[in-house]
Amino acid sequence: MPARLKVILAVGFLVIGLGIGAIIALTILRGEGVSLLAEDRGGFGTPLIGGAFALIDQTGTPRTDADYRGRFMLIYFGYTFCPDVCPTSLQVMGQALDQLSAEEQAAIQPILITVDPARDTVAVLKDYVPHFHERLVGLTGSEAQVAAAAKAYRVFYRKSSLTQGQADYLVDHSSIVYLMDRNGAYRTHFTHEATPEAMAAALRKAIAEAKP
Ligand code: NI
Repeated sequence: MPARLKVILAVGFLVIGLGIGAIIALTILRGEGVSLLAEDRGGFGTPLIGGAFALIDQTGTPRTDADYRGRFMLIYFGYTFCPDVCPTSLQVMGQALDQLSAEEQAAIQPILITVDPARDTVAVLKDYVPHFHERLVGLTGSEAQVAAAAKAYRVFYRKSSLTQGQADYLVDHSSIVYLMDRNGAYRTHFTHEATPEAMAAALRKAIAEAKP
């Protein structure tokens, strides 16, 4: 084989090899991205979800994340004017809690953080949260406080373009229920398709594995 052809072949194989390598690397990285979200343990790979928040609850009391240390926080971001997804998610949270023992329930603090602080005042939240669970806490605050909390939890929200300029506007938002551990660290999450049974089982497991 002429030397020149050898070089061409060698370069060709090198390029193909690099291409395959890149595809494999990308596939692994992608898989890693997915597993980062699905990962529900501490340590390496824990997604950077959660953090400090300073808001005000439905009784008018200022609240920070530190107030709930020692309990698991079951957190949902939504808004009271939401026609369907939010009430459904909150109902699932309430029903999941009802399946737990009193002792297990006491280990969990269910929390709704509004993504619509302009309409979700303290008074509005006070009327709303007891419909879903007697222990559900509703948190609101200034636009900036809510934005900071949502950013910490990687929650997206914005006024819907479908109802632009209307008083009865809708808010597009992520619909994920987060379970944070007794130290406020991310433990796992549920999509709005989770059943109360599945959520209750996951809560029970988390509590059993992290006795105080
Ligand atoms: Ni909603």
